[in-house]
Amino acid sequence: MNTIKPKIIAHRVKQGLNRIDNIKNIIAVSSGKGGVGKSTTAINLAVALAKTGLNIGVLDTDIYGPSIPKLVGQESYKPEVSPNNKFTPLDVHDIKVMSFGFLVDRNQATIWRGSIVNKALEQMLFDTEWGELDILILDLPPGTGDIQLTMGQKFPITASVVVTTPQDIALIDVGKSIAMFEKLSIPCLGVVENMAVHTCSNCGHQEHIFGNGAIDKIKEIYNLDKLVSLPLDMNICTNSENGTPTALKTENALGIIYNELANKVIENLAKLPKDYSTLIPKVQAV
Ligand SMILES: Nc1ncnc2c1ncn2[C@@H]1O[C@H](COP(=O)(O)OP(=O)(O)O)[C@@H](O)[C@H]1O
Ligand SMILES: [Mg+2]
Repeated sequence: MNTIKPKIIAHRVKQGLNRIDNIKNIIAVSSGKGGVGKSTTAINLAVALAKTGLNIGVLDTDIYGPSIPKLVGQESYKPEVSPNNKFTPLDVHDIKVMSFGFLVDRNQATIWRGSIVNKALEQMLFDTEWGELDILILDLPPGTGDIQLTMGQKFPITASVVVTTPQDIALIDVGKSIAMFEKLSIPCLGVVENMAVHTCSNCGHQEHIFGNGAIDKIKEIYNLDKLVSLPLDMNICTNSENGTPTALKTENALGIIYNELANKVIENLAKLPKDYSTLIPKVQAV
């Protein structure tokens, strides 16, 4: 576990967008398809980052399947609206959390048009009382559709992290996700390989249930680092069910991997260009 709080500076966002004053960096966690463990990774990354002493927020933008409320064990939280019309995020496990799941009934949201979804997403990002954040983690909906593209164009996202399982087919989807961020000029910090190896709790035999070696192709094809590899482990699933993210258990072998993920994210984020825009004096009309 880290003992010294890392120093996080604000990094540059895409030209034409302005960084949000009180949020130094936004990192989007994405995947080409659903069910690969994107939300699990997003929440555990956030908790592991907060464990280093950083101010961290999580915005769950997966409107059709918001799972963050369950992952933090607070499904009935209802955000208050402050006098200046801002949502109060949930404060849990040392992170600030906001989710569609806190605001609307899941069945209601599924019939919303894309334009309404985008408006609601903007409101959740800009009208939440985040306080001062070093990093805001965005849990994106799976895939590379209109909602993801619009967010990439309108939200001042610093960088992305892509989550995949090791199958070849998942890697095809990963390619789409990486290509989308490239098109949006959002740098990718690397790839998380999830559900890689499984160890039998009876005999200790290790098996690569979803295949092996495909992640190396990512380095070859896209020149992206593998950040960490997480096993397919029942404890990750059970901890999620209980609303106590695995990363809270810092001494545990799995907790250590999430801690390593947080350190790699901090390390790769630091390599990105600094945001100088706030140093340029604003010209005022006289
Ligand atoms: N490494 C893992 N080992 C075991 N189960 C996992 C792992 N990662 C995620 N899961 C489980 O897989 C399911 C899908 O994960 P989730 O994070 O909701 O995926 P996504 O957000 O990509 O749709 C959940 O039940 C979760 O607990
Ligand atoms: Mg999800």
